[in-house]
Amino acid sequence: PLVLHVLGARPNFVKAAPVVRALGELGVRQGIIHTGQHYDALMSDVFFADLGLPEPVANLGVGSGTHAKQTAALLVGLEDVVVAQEPDLVVVYGDVNSTLAAILVCAKLGVRTAHVEAGLRSFDRGMPEEVNRVVTDALADLLFATSPEALAYLANEGVPASKVHLVGNPMIDSLFSALPSLDPAPVVARLGIPARYAVATLHRPANVDTPEAAKELVDAVLEVSRQLPIVVPIHPRGKVRLAEAGLVDGESIRVVDPLGYVDFLSLVRGAALVVTDSGGVQEETTVLGVPCLTVRPNTERPITITHGTNRLVTPALLPAAAEKALADGAATPAGELPVLWDGKAGPRIATVISAWLKGDNLAP
Ligand code: UD1
Ligand code: UDP
Repeated sequence: PLVLHVLGARPNFVKAAPVVRALGELGVRQGIIHTGQHYDALMSDVFFADLGLPEPVANLGVGSGTHAKQTAALLVGLEDVVVAQEPDLVVVYGDVNSTLAAILVCAKLGVRTAHVEAGLRSFDRGMPEEVNRVVTDALADLLFATSPEALAYLANEGVPASKVHLVGNPMIDSLFSALPSLDPAPVVARLGIPARYAVATLHRPANVDTPEAAKELVDAVLEVSRQLPIVVPIHPRGKVRLAEAGLVDGESIRVVDPLGYVDFLSLVRGAALVVTDSGGVQEETTVLGVPCLTVRPNTERPITITHGTNRLVTPALLPAAAEKALADGAATPAGELPVLWDGKAGPRIATVISAWLKGDNLAP
């Protein structure tokens, strides 16, 4: 049997690496299809290197575009490759447009699918990712959940419990694998910043796509930079708008290219504070015990608030929230880690997939 993994964007690579490794250890034949949704070396190649992912068997080179154009190109490219490769199972990850397109193509072709990171919900259909999550979970044959609240959400949407497996969080497997090599010192030296600093990542369309939103956010980040220096590895999506809004490289704000996985997590590990609108970074700071302020009205990852150091803030509240988080500092360590965030999600997923390929009963 053949398993194909469809990957397209930065967070996909991080989630897939432990699954690919664990399936490899079970001797399962597999291949990666890179859609090319992310294509800059710093958004793609560096993750293959840092995470030890094998070369893709195909790269569709889909690139950027409006949602319709990008998704259309993904559908056409993926249909050809799935028909040619005849996989027994296609595994999709997270909530990006590559995920959505792959699940649709396979559903129409009658090819079985598995969704890793099923059942996350922000209940905000204004987020493109929420639309992708709902459609993907409605169509997947096997659903791998990272946290228990997903089970109730999926049940409410009519997904049979027999398809759903609570396996933990493969993004945290990757974090645990990288942990021994995480060292803030060389990155801090390279950036020329003091040992006490914050890190910010910003790329949600609601935050960076309009000049008004970008300005409000940048003003808030500039205010935080009066409390301590901030490193902002800039996602290409926000690059122009945030610069126009006044986010420029300087002494107290270091605006730099996106960082590789090991460099980025090293920096996060040593940070006094993280400001973000990323999904994955909310989870990583939960495990690393670094205070995290998420500039969003909601999160599909509430477990990072109940079990971690995460807090939701508006741009207006960010400076005061940063001051408080910095004052509380190590006085608010991460709570008990979410159940099964133990670095073994990949092997659990591989075990279920391998049994499924052999036709065993899948009921959990
Ligand atoms: C995508 C995901 C988002 C995820 C993010 C992770 C969707 C709908 N969104 O958002 O959920 O959080 O990836 O990083 O799938 N660009 C480059 N170089 C690249 C890739 C993108 O310059 O390698 C620029 C292009 O101008 C492009 C823009 O970034 O138009 C947005 O890229 P796209 O992949 O459409 O969405 P992201 O914002 O990256
Ligand atoms: N990340 C990285 N370099 C950066 C910013 C993020 O390696 O400059 C990693 C981060 O540690 C996490 C993943 O990229 O593993 C999250 O991707 P992103 O924030 O782009 O997507 P989201 O999780 O919001 O979908």
